[in-house]
Amino acid sequence: MNKEDIIKLLVKKGDPPPFPDIINRVEREVNNPDSDIWVISQLIASEPILAGNLIKMANSVFFGGGREKAQDLNSAILRLGAKMALDMIYSLAMPGLFPAPKAFSQKKYWKHSLAVACIARNIATPNPGGASLDVLDEVYMAGLSHDIGIIIFDYLLPRDYGRFLRANRGSELPLAKLEEQSFGVSHHQLGAAFIKKSWPMSDELIAAIRNQDQQDNNQPITPKDLTSVIAFAHKIADHCGMGSGVEMGEVGTVAKEELTAWQMTEDDLKELEEEIQESVQAVEIMVG
Ligand SMILES: [Fe+2]
Ligand SMILES: [Fe+2]
Repeated sequence: MNKEDIIKLLVKKGDPPPFPDIINRVEREVNNPDSDIWVISQLIASEPILAGNLIKMANSVFFGGGREKAQDLNSAILRLGAKMALDMIYSLAMPGLFPAPKAFSQKKYWKHSLAVACIARNIATPNPGGASLDVLDEVYMAGLSHDIGIIIFDYLLPRDYGRFLRANRGSELPLAKLEEQSFGVSHHQLGAAFIKKSWPMSDELIAAIRNQDQQDNNQPITPKDLTSVIAFAHKIADHCGMGSGVEMGEVGTVAKEELTAWQMTEDDLKELEEEIQESVQAVEIMVG
């Protein structure tokens, strides 16, 4: 199996799950300056399971749910704001798009993705590093889908990928390198190709997914663009023991000069870690 075969498979196999229509509709409303939050609320209410889970998630620590619990959809969305409600819908809809993976833990995988999404949003907000605001709008989604290629591998080649993971368990090489050796394509390249084909995401987001591992290992990751945000967010997740459980090779550790470059202190990192540890419990709502 080589790169061409896999890309062909990606084009051929059923069609990989399209972005659910509800997301497209909510997205349009969120981006429409004339729309109001009640229209968005009504749209979400038309999908009762999604609406119920959204209220649950809004009340979890993840999205700052605190003392006052939202009882209904309107108050949940009002508190979150339209943009955050959309991010939450992405989180709730994504795991259901794919069959549950056989070769690895779905929960651990989504926990990692959720952590990277949270961290990416957190580190990008005060320090865009020159990235445009439009791109930062997508930072959460980029974090959530940064390793989607792992799911796509499992979706396209469940047997081969499972065998590959078992054979390489404990390897010192990073997963992306091993995949390139075995399949001619890494989960980052495959994920980018999948998103480009199936989901309406920006070129910057696709580039961030594809290029996140192109950072020089001996060089600190500094804030430059969406790609650097995702690469650093993944490293922080690793550093905090929230890896995907699928990745191999050396576990990332955050260097002092990286913290400085991102205008963070050791305390900020610790605080972020605690917040994320609690927040990612929301994965229970995502994957049940
Ligand atoms: Fe990855
Ligand atoms: Fe990752």
